Amino acid sequence: MPVDVVLGGQWGDEGKGKIVDLLAADAHAVVRCQGGANAGHTLVDGEERLALHLIPSGVRHAECLLVLAAGMVVDPLALVEEIEALEASGHPLRNRVRVSVAAHAVLPSHRLQDQAQERQRGTGSVGTTGRGIGPTYADKAARTGMRLGAFLHSEAELRDRIRAVLRDKQSVIEPAGSLDVEATLARLVGLRAEIAPLLCDTTALLHELCAAGRTVLLEGAQGAMLDVDHGSYPYVTSSSCTTAGALAGSGLPPQVVDRVTGVFKAYCSRVGNGPFPSELLDATGERLREIGREFGTTTGRPRRCGWFDVVAARHAACISGFTQIALTKLDVLDEFETLQVVVAYELDGETVTRFPADHEALSRCKPLTVEMEGWRRSTRGCRDAATLPEAARRYVEFLVDRIGVPLGYVSVGPERADAFAC
Ligand code: IMP
Repeated sequence: MPVDVVLGGQWGDEGKGKIVDLLAADAHAVVRCQGGANAGHTLVDGEERLALHLIPSGVRHAECLLVLAAGMVVDPLALVEEIEALEASGHPLRNRVRVSVAAHAVLPSHRLQDQAQERQRGTGSVGTTGRGIGPTYADKAARTGMRLGAFLHSEAELRDRIRAVLRDKQSVIEPAGSLDVEATLARLVGLRAEIAPLLCDTTALLHELCAAGRTVLLEGAQGAMLDVDHGSYPYVTSSSCTTAGALAGSGLPPQVVDRVTGVFKAYCSRVGNGPFPSELLDATGERLREIGREFGTTTGRPRRCGWFDVVAARHAACISGFTQIALTKLDVLDEFETLQVVVAYELDGETVTRFPADHEALSRCKPLTVEMEGWRRSTRGCRDAATLPEAARRYVEFLVDRIGVPLGYVSVGPERADAFAC
């Protein structure tokens, strides 16, 4: 079966882009299925550093189709900007980007609404990326949103459609500012000539590719703990970050899936608010942030850092059916004398090994850890599991064994060449 799924197993920022870039060498299409410009995938190759937000991470493979499927929420202004920036840096892609007519449009009003709602939440804010993701999915569910297919209609019809979405938004966006409706309409309608040629029925396209035996790679955004149903709600994103979400968003059925790769960082990080049981609020957390350069690609915010959490990882593997693991940023741990791994939580005096579904229970969980020996040797330059220091191998084997899913890849640096199959 020709479909490969790559998903985040933690709170996002696991290095999915890099693993997708690696696997895309054999793919005919790389597909983003959910989320929008809240995602930030960084690809590093020598001097080049590409920060992607909407465009799938197959961008460096010139033959690969880049599909933005029906389950996504796409900001047309951000899309055009990202395409222009990538083309200017030497990656022609206009003729291989395919955007679903059914994907929902994130309008400037959604961004302002997102920011206004965050302000109103005060100390209970989610810590969103402010990219309008939640309000756009809310409009979609309420059946008041606008699909990108509107850009295929006449200028007058498109204008009316956008006006209908902007209508009645003024009061909800007020705390974050006001919107000049006429100027916004002019900007968006002005994009029609650029957006329309990118649009098609991506579901039909993906079915045709699968029927022809072509390899399709579904690229998840965010991570399992940010999943709207199975994450730490309400401190989550507004879409489904699981295998089921990738299928719903792409329109492909489950039986075409061949392999599901869960990507995990060798430790944990989280941006935004909400419970994070393995978080380190001390100098060790600071050290992880500095060495791992844990600052958001999309917002530049410092990420909260903590030890690897096996309880959360098993939950991710369970809800998405991971068939293999890709472990990234192992090199960030190179200098640590000892490492901790969270293997259970203490919840109200009991030991639990299952990730609590209720975020209030999750926020009362205290981590129970196992200490492991560090390796204090550089892993950079290792190109197979056999050349990893013995303590590093033991650490990786411990994680893989506790999660209960075989290891597929390890990555020991930001470069494409730093990741190897195991
Ligand atoms: P939203 O997706 O912008 O609504 O943000 C909801 C939560 O998901 C916040 O905690 C964000 O920081 C987090 N989030 C959204 N996208 C990403 C991502 O790509 N990586 C990591 N965290 C993300």
